[in-house]
Amino acid sequence: MSELHEAIAGDVPGLPAGPWTLLGEGVWGSVHDLRDGSVLKLVRRNGGLGTGESKHYRETAALRLLDGLEGAVPRLLNSGRFENAYGFSGPPLAGWLRLERLEGKAVDEGRLYALKTEERERLGEEIGAALAHFHERAKLRASEAEKLGSPGLRSIAEAMTRISDPGLRARLERLKEMWAAADAPRVFLHGDINLSNVIAARGLPVAFVDLAEAGTGFAEEDFRHFDNPGPMRDAIFRSYAAVSGRAIDMRRFRMGVAVNAAVGLAIGSNAGHPREGMRRVSFLDEALRQAGVEA
Ligand SMILES: Nc1ncnc2c1ncn2[C@@H]1O[C@H](COP(=O)(O)OP(=O)(O)O)[C@@H](O)[C@H]1O
Ligand SMILES: [Mg+2]
Repeated sequence: MSELHEAIAGDVPGLPAGPWTLLGEGVWGSVHDLRDGSVLKLVRRNGGLGTGESKHYRETAALRLLDGLEGAVPRLLNSGRFENAYGFSGPPLAGWLRLERLEGKAVDEGRLYALKTEERERLGEEIGAALAHFHERAKLRASEAEKLGSPGLRSIAEAMTRISDPGLRARLERLKEMWAAADAPRVFLHGDINLSNVIAARGLPVAFVDLAEAGTGFAEEDFRHFDNPGPMRDAIFRSYAAVSGRAIDMRRFRMGVAVNAAVGLAIGSNAGHPREGMRRVSFLDEALRQAGVEA
């Protein structure tokens, strides 16, 4: 860690010496607990679909807009870009964010399976309620958040850079049109609500991290990672509807699931066994059909 500290100390002011702990590491970078109540998120230039620069920009801008809106997301303490992306031994970096350290841990899959059914449902209820509150509060900044774009349309466009099948491309174009025409209020979206971005601690309301995909659009977009039916999803939907006072439109929800399926195919298409790729294609085909985009 001291090597990393030395490499970035010139760009990131006021870094505590450490030792730091690694909280998470993904294709887009790493998150370090600085043990002073803050975390440092380092964003790489390259990862999956899109660019690290745009992710860094969106997360910084979204957190600034949300500042002062009470809970649910960490406060942004400071942020910056790396002037010399190649000044490190690792992959080139785009920027950094210094964030308030939230209490608790992400709900990863392993943790989820360790929960009893009723605990899982309870967590689902908390996530639904927290998301309803997030949408409600963030609405105050929704017009300013429009500059961040639509997460759904952006994901379709990114996925299409790696999907060449003409039939699928034509259907994704139709999905884009349906998306833009959706008759629903536009809200400030987190953009990437999956369990690894949900922080839970006993006795505290759940919170959300990772606003790199934030933007505006219809509320159902924020459920797009919950494509697995089951008691937990039912609990999320139920409590979201109860707290927000708005039912979830399943047609729009399925449009979101289709976007996710397209991203899954785009990211995975050149990896794994060919059978895996075929499975992703049929998953997208079915998801598009369910969203009302026939072949
Ligand atoms: N502010 C925070 N407080 C506590 N833990 C955090 C915070 N931000 C991120 N983490 C942890 O780091 C992990 C990765 O952070 P995230 O912002 O989701 O980055 P990535 O882009 O790699 O997904 C999260 O799953 C969570 O466990
Ligand atoms: Mg994340």
